[in-house]
Amino acid sequence: MEENVIKNYELMNDNEIDNTIRPETIEEYIGQKEVKENIQIFVKAAKMRNEPLDHVLLYGSPGLGKTTLAFIIAHELGSNIKTASGPSIEKSGDLAAILSSLEPGDVLFIDEIHRMPRYIEEILYPAMEDFSLDIIVGSEGNSRNIKIDLPPFTLVGATTRAGDLSSPLRDRFGIVSKLQFYTVEELTQIVKRTARVLNTTIDDDAAVELAKRSRGTPRIANRLLKRVRDFALVVGTGEITKEITEEALDRLKVDNMGLNDTDHQLLLAIINRFNGGPVGIEALSSSIGEEVTTVEDVYEPFLLQSGLLKRTARGRVATDKAYTALGIERSKK
Ligand code: ADE
Repeated sequence: MEENVIKNYELMNDNEIDNTIRPETIEEYIGQKEVKENIQIFVKAAKMRNEPLDHVLLYGSPGLGKTTLAFIIAHELGSNIKTASGPSIEKSGDLAAILSSLEPGDVLFIDEIHRMPRYIEEILYPAMEDFSLDIIVGSEGNSRNIKIDLPPFTLVGATTRAGDLSSPLRDRFGIVSKLQFYTVEELTQIVKRTARVLNTTIDDDAAVELAKRSRGTPRIANRLLKRVRDFALVVGTGEITKEITEEALDRLKVDNMGLNDTDHQLLLAIINRFNGGPVGIEALSSSIGEEVTTVEDVYEPFLLQSGLLKRTARGRVATDKAYTALGIERSKK
């Protein structure tokens, strides 16, 4: 019955909602035009040849839709998907177990693939190249190599740090696609789509405002939409207007460029503590109490793309635009 299919979003947690709002087909996926078009062609060709799709590496900042795209690739291939993540594969046996559970044509998605230890990664080389699992059995002094045939499959790897992948692993991906930050127009469409899926109404100018403040990232846009919807429900009339959106985002300390507290801290640290830079990434990260990798993977890419931060050979520098954005006058050196 229809009633049973309608979901009660008010009772669902964010993770459940995340899985519901993910687009399933490539047509529903907004933005990343080039990546999308290429993948459509490669999937079509693989299906025409009745061969598995070549292995795909997706890289880019967190929240740009790598996992979503991996699921879409499986959907478009008409295949099942099995998922794993780099840090959760701790022993070579873990990976061997995953590989030997694959069925012909399956997609194996490994998130954060750069975090797999190198000696485990080496098991992937023959698996990717020849669909063969080479393992050592037995104990020291009495061990032997055995070779097990695997069914043809497609590995989809996702990483925020393509540079951290060893070159033998990177070279084994036939398709390498970089996901870019989304434009305000694309994010506006995504926000409107998510609102529709969540059965919420949002004004056009509220959707644009949310999109502008989402750091070019759908995951952030969708998360902010859920929070703004809470404000609208409790503080307003339930309808998401531009006013409610602005009020909610101000309360959430998301500024009108989409920068959050940590972005501000980072830029302010360069400006106030390091005289505008250049400052090394280690000193900068520790001064704001964040890991170097978090600063590099999560915060910097958007600040660089927005022209607020520059990377130089001698370290990070706050740009004139950063001073203007934070309303700070540059002191004469
Ligand atoms: N939700 C998250 N990413 C999306 C995208 N690229 N298109 C549509 N909905 C999304």
